[in-house]
Amino acid sequence: MAGAGRAYWGMVLTKIVSLCFLTSAVVIFFNVLTGRHQELADEVSSVLHQSFTRSTYEVHDPKVLEVRHEEVAGMEVVLVRSKDPRGVLIVMHGCMRRPTDWWHYDPACVTCIGLPEEMAIARAALARSFDVLALTPKEQAYRCWDTEWPDKSEDVPRVAAVLEELEARDYGYRGLPRYALGVSSGGAMAMVLAQFFPLQGICSQIMGIRPSLLALPKNKTMAGRPWRYPPTFFLYMARDVAMSEWISLDADKLKSQGVYVKKVSVLPRPITPTYFSDRISSLDNATSAAIYHALQGAHMLDLQDMLVQDPRQVMPSAPRWRQVLQENVPGLRGVSLESETSPIHELLNLAWAGHEIVSDYADDMFAFWERPGPDEAELMPIGGIGASSKMRGGGSWTEDKGLTGRRLQGDPLRLQGHRGWIALGMRSA
Ligand SMILES: *[C@@H]1O[C@H](CO)[C@@H](O)[C@H](O)[C@H]1NC(C)=O
Ligand SMILES: *[C@@H]1O[C@H](CO)[C@@H](O)[C@H](O)[C@H]1NC(C)=O
Repeated sequence: MAGAGRAYWGMVLTKIVSLCFLTSAVVIFFNVLTGRHQELADEVSSVLHQSFTRSTYEVHDPKVLEVRHEEVAGMEVVLVRSKDPRGVLIVMHGCMRRPTDWWHYDPACVTCIGLPEEMAIARAALARSFDVLALTPKEQAYRCWDTEWPDKSEDVPRVAAVLEELEARDYGYRGLPRYALGVSSGGAMAMVLAQFFPLQGICSQIMGIRPSLLALPKNKTMAGRPWRYPPTFFLYMARDVAMSEWISLDADKLKSQGVYVKKVSVLPRPITPTYFSDRISSLDNATSAAIYHALQGAHMLDLQDMLVQDPRQVMPSAPRWRQVLQENVPGLRGVSLESETSPIHELLNLAWAGHEIVSDYADDMFAFWERPGPDEAELMPIGGIGASSKMRGGGSWTEDKGLTGRRLQGDPLRLQGHRGWIALGMRSA
């Protein structure tokens, strides 16, 4: 039965991926029909001005030696160097995002926008004296990584070339441990990269791949040293039931071959008055509280302060949280509210726990990489819902059934509807 379910979801996922481009076109057409074209135009102009918004201002981090935004081996990279590097953290964004999301505005990186979760991961890395190297795929229309046929991936040799060039510089990288963290499409890339390139640890956030694509390097050597598939840290979101299933399959396959794996589930969480200011260092408490009250006033939060609808929803009947915030929170003027560039949108997605980067567990991830071992118990999930709470639009979660996505109960039709955002949210995957 479970096998049939997996095969079914496998088919659905494959179809969704192949339908993405078509769906984006349909969504754009639909948007134009419903008069969204003006909104889209505004979105474009807002994106263009994003790099100058005040949300990108941050205080200087004393750990940082230098920020570089440059082309290395033909790839746009953002490199944040620490003073005495002990390792390099390679970070790979999801589709439609950019390497400039991983550090805040700096005279050396004027288009850097420093999204909150990316920044928190980067800071956790720097706190350990790991340099942060943000990369981007070759394909720049949707900015998704080439992972469909791992041994033919155009991105694997590109990443290897960047690392080679950086190791040739006097940064002291030769011999240092290298870790790779990817989100969504970037998570698939981390899993693929580890098959062709020696890494000391990887993390895939919110992405599993077909287990048949996970060909473990057998007795491979690089510069005379053998390497194994590295310890792998998976993070998945409770509402993303199908992806949780893929991640479980990947984890089982890796574990059966002796690879150390850790899995963490991220639950929906409530919005609090300081939720936004706690995670966006340039946002003040009063503005954060105003966002909370505006959402509450517009009935976008339930009695437990959980979001009632997916903030990525693009259907006309969806709540217009952007409009609500624009009209009610003057303190947000100049802060992007648009897909893929908005710190607020990212945090709403995180609270919803459907498909978004998350910085919680960054310390657990580094600790696991540095001292990997077999791990049966999952980490306690962070999130705000109790044992019997219902997850609207997703499934229900009950304590006795455990915390893994594969045991989530729910109405398949609603779950299927929920899957839709992967397709609709191609801009956000
Ligand atoms: C793995 O490689 C080592 C030397 O590189 C060799 O001695 C050993 O026989 C190989 N093992 C397998 C299973 O191929
Ligand atoms: C903002 O809220 C946080 C709690 O989240 C508190 O620690 C901090 O002192 C507050 N800052 C100001 C300026 O009131």
